[in-house]
Amino acid sequence: MSIKRWVAGSAIIGLCSLGAANCGAAEPAAEKAPSIEELEKANPVEALPASPLGIEQKLPELKAPPTPERVQLGRWLFFDKRLSADGTIACASCHRPENGFSEPTPVSTGIKGQKGNRKAPSFVNAAFAFFPETFWDGRAGSLEEQAAGPMANPIEMGNTHEEVVKFVGANANYKYFFKKAYGDETVTLARITQAIADYERTRMSGNSPWDRYKAGDAKAVGEDVKLGEELFFGKANCTRCHVGVAFTDSRFHNLGIGWDEKKKEFSDKGRNAVSKKDEDLGAFKTPGLRETALHAPYMHDGSLATLEEVVAHYRKGGTKNPHLSPKMEPLTIDDREAAALVAFMKALSGEGFQDKAPSVFP
Ligand code: HEC
Ligand code: HEC
Repeated sequence: MSIKRWVAGSAIIGLCSLGAANCGAAEPAAEKAPSIEELEKANPVEALPASPLGIEQKLPELKAPPTPERVQLGRWLFFDKRLSADGTIACASCHRPENGFSEPTPVSTGIKGQKGNRKAPSFVNAAFAFFPETFWDGRAGSLEEQAAGPMANPIEMGNTHEEVVKFVGANANYKYFFKKAYGDETVTLARITQAIADYERTRMSGNSPWDRYKAGDAKAVGEDVKLGEELFFGKANCTRCHVGVAFTDSRFHNLGIGWDEKKKEFSDKGRNAVSKKDEDLGAFKTPGLRETALHAPYMHDGSLATLEEVVAHYRKGGTKNPHLSPKMEPLTIDDREAAALVAFMKALSGEGFQDKAPSVFP
């Protein structure tokens, strides 16, 4: 397939940024693969990042820590559109760095403009999650297992695992970096997904105004954020579910999102599709709240447009349905307090995750 040649997809952008004379022309002049030197310059191997302020856990202390070489390799794979069937969609097409690795749309769009029915969640600080399950319904047991999903999902990247492995394994430059990361050139799906998962683990978020306030900088946030913090951890009880450095218990709860009162059913079964338990109907994994201000709209179906709407949903105690979480109760807070909760969540945007696509690909 010609689109899978080296010149396809994002590699052309790479040439442009290197100042090729005919940048933007339909056919790039050079079909030559970039040199290892150019590649190393565009995406150098780097020591594992230190955790930003407020994140006590450290990457090297994980049970299976990422390695710098796998992170380097995974960064390319994460941004590489050539892993999709038609060379148009990378992981980063839906998990965009500028949106905290989520996206600013209710649902995702995959190859050939196909729309899914769920929002792409952020995975910042996922390295330190309490439980390893991923996806809104927790159907994947690890970031590695998760990463294989979208490649072969017909409405996401639309490829097959065989084709992905074949494409990467036929690329001499990728093979060079597999050898660097794994000791030999063998390209397997397990190695591809491990490298991507390791890259994801390095995307952390901390040093937000709230972290700086907690660390002793009294001026880092305003009075509204201080009130919001008190409510979040206090009478609004958000920490029943949003806990830890990523502000998620990684468990599944029903807030009534997607409940159709007329039809008496959920638009999406959620966790029930995995557990088959009645009580998991309409239950979804608690999303983390770091960088949440960067990726409205909210919830698994993107049905709430703003953080204000999210707080309004909690104020009324969620949407009544036969499986509503017993932890959902109407909140007795006034408008000023509701606004303070929003201000608190906005103060959870910081740094440690920012990135952009490498300018040159193997
Ligand atoms: C077409 C858009 C799209 C593409 C491409 C895509 N994703 Fe996703 N991603 C989603 C959506 C939507 C979900 C939620 C799906 C669900 O829960 O069923 C998701 C879920 C995830 C999650 C789970 C996060 C959590 O907290 O549970 C991770 C991690 C992730 N994707 C990483 C990746 C990686 C790695 C790739 C590339 C191999 C990728 N995604 C490609 C849209 C996309
Ligand atoms: C019972 C557990 C629970 C409690 C309590 C709870 N949440 Fe949530 N929160 C969730 C779940 C689960 C979702 C996703 C629901 C869905 O998509 O169906 C969510 C979604 C969110 C979102 C949207 C994030 C995104 O990426 O879409 C925000 C913001 C949020 N909660 C803030 C709060 C605040 C503020 C409070 C306290 C007033 C709170 N939550 C209390 C479990 C909880």
